[in-house]
Amino acid sequence: MKIAVIYGGTSSEREVSLSTGKGVMEALKRKGHEVVGIDFDPNHLDPIIHLQADLVFIGLHGKYGEDGRIQGLLDILNIPYVGSGVMASSIAMDKARAKVMFEKAGIRVADSCTVSRYQNVQSSPFGYPVVIKPNREGSTIGLTIAENDDQFQEGVEKALEYDDTALVEAFIEGKELTVSVMGKGEDIQALPVVEIVPKNKFYDYEAKYAPGMSAHYVPARIPDHVTKKLQEWSVLAHKQLGCETYSRVDFILPNDGSDPVILEVNTLPGMTPTSLFPDAAKAIGISYDDMIEKLVNLTVQ
Ligand code: DAL
Ligand code: MG
Repeated sequence: MKIAVIYGGTSSEREVSLSTGKGVMEALKRKGHEVVGIDFDPNHLDPIIHLQADLVFIGLHGKYGEDGRIQGLLDILNIPYVGSGVMASSIAMDKARAKVMFEKAGIRVADSCTVSRYQNVQSSPFGYPVVIKPNREGSTIGLTIAENDDQFQEGVEKALEYDDTALVEAFIEGKELTVSVMGKGEDIQALPVVEIVPKNKFYDYEAKYAPGMSAHYVPARIPDHVTKKLQEWSVLAHKQLGCETYSRVDFILPNDGSDPVILEVNTLPGMTPTSLFPDAAKAIGISYDDMIEKLVNLTVQ
């Protein structure tokens, strides 16, 4: 098959995407596909508009790539692509709106509020500590943990450098867990739960992408009934947003023994050497190359 991999782009997750794109392209070549790589530039769309390919693998993350915009362009051009469509991508990217839908499905979410560029909010409405992040970003870019009003104001300002809206959530002390989801139609499978233990205080950008900066335990060291709930909720969240083919759903399991709390659905999960989705696949005997091939087959079948 002739497959185009679109990667890079101009979002703040560009570096992550370059790594995802490289991994995906190499895997597709080893699987015998003819591969074209396109470094995405929203000001120069010619390479996409004139693309002659059977399929696109979107290796982008963040703005333009993960938020439904490139998906819309490919829909107009009538070029099939791996992964979620316009609506699911844009809702998943908007964490605050996605949370409304998770709650509706009965999935536990953290207390939260949003602060837009046009509001003047000086303190957290539900005490401290809180996590403040750009509402539409990835890879913990622009994230602050605030313990008081000063840090709150700084955190909101920082988040607003990346998006028009900051999301403020109650900070939950607990285990970082993530569940990869793969499948088509009603046949959607949750892979083993991955537990992340960062060397830093929390799972920040460095812990995510610098080799050796976090340990992944697959399967996670949690009771069976929690694993079951996480897998059930991941598939439910994926379906609730209308995701397609694959996604990765992030959770915190509170130390107080209560139910897991969903953080977000990633519609274009990282596929870098330190990424979580490939680790979950490996745990059930699916190599990186076979996993990429499976995503392609799920799309074209
Ligand atoms: N946003 C990054 C790429 C991830 O979720 O893996
Ligand atoms: Mg994300």
